[in-house]
Amino acid sequence: MRTVSSINTVKRIIKESRHGSIGFVPTMGALHEGHLSLIKRAKKECDFLVVSLFVNPLQFGPEEDLDVYPRNLALDQGKARAAGVNLFWTPFKKTLYPAGFQTTIAVSQISRLWEGLFRPEHFTGVCTIVTKLLHVVQPNRLYLGQKDYQQICVLQRMIQDLNIPVQLRVCPTVRETDGLAMSSRNLRLSAKQRNIAPLLYRALKAAKKRVTAGEQHAHRIIQTAEAHLKSNPDIRCDYLALCDPKTLEPIKKIEHRAVLLAAIHIGKVRLIDNILLKTP
Ligand code: PAJ
Repeated sequence: MRTVSSINTVKRIIKESRHGSIGFVPTMGALHEGHLSLIKRAKKECDFLVVSLFVNPLQFGPEEDLDVYPRNLALDQGKARAAGVNLFWTPFKKTLYPAGFQTTIAVSQISRLWEGLFRPEHFTGVCTIVTKLLHVVQPNRLYLGQKDYQQICVLQRMIQDLNIPVQLRVCPTVRETDGLAMSSRNLRLSAKQRNIAPLLYRALKAAKKRVTAGEQHAHRIIQTAEAHLKSNPDIRCDYLALCDPKTLEPIKKIEHRAVLLAAIHIGKVRLIDNILLKTP
């Protein structure tokens, strides 16, 4: 595995590997089993695997956790190497966002919903960095996790709207044994908060159980999940939304499929999760 920062070196190495398919997994590091599941799938499906590690300042709001976002390059490098990554790209902030940088990519409507209500510039930051990374790597396949469901929908929209020649592969959410979705932010939970955190997925699963039992009305499905979240006073809910799985517009009744999206705070740590629902 080669670890490289320079854009030109990345381009040169990738050019030499163009004879086969190129897979790309963008990350912000603090690699865990969720990231590694994307990496393993990409490794299986592609001839040359590029992983990027960049904590993208553009997707963090002024009050958010950019400064305390977990960083451990040596550990991440070891994990990437063991997983068979060919090129580990660790770009410098000053080369991606040089002085005078002023161009961004914004996907309008779908970015404004849910996460967008609480993190207004977040998806513009995500779309801008992913476009920049895709321009350099020009992969055949881009691997993203279902864990960040709205991110997938927004990036899918962007790829389609801008005719970016890449196939999106969505990988299922990897969870701890107690159901908590793996996330770099879990590292910031205290022991007490870590014990509370699995309630989020338990709430989503309870909602799914109701749908499987025949419930179709959004307010009752949401109520079921909400009851779980309200059972602990240390949880503050940003949103719990039953939505169309493609447009993410809220729905009143599940006709066939839906996604239940949730974001909560436990202390200073913000967690998101989701579950796909299908009528029986
Ligand atoms: P990051 O949070 O590091 O996640 C990188 C990728 O790993 C994303 O596609 C995310 O959905 C996926 N992932 C995270 N936790 C997962 C889990 N438990 N199971 C499966 N996949 C999981 O998402 C970002 O970084 C950034 O927004 C990025 C796309 C890199 C742009 O900066």
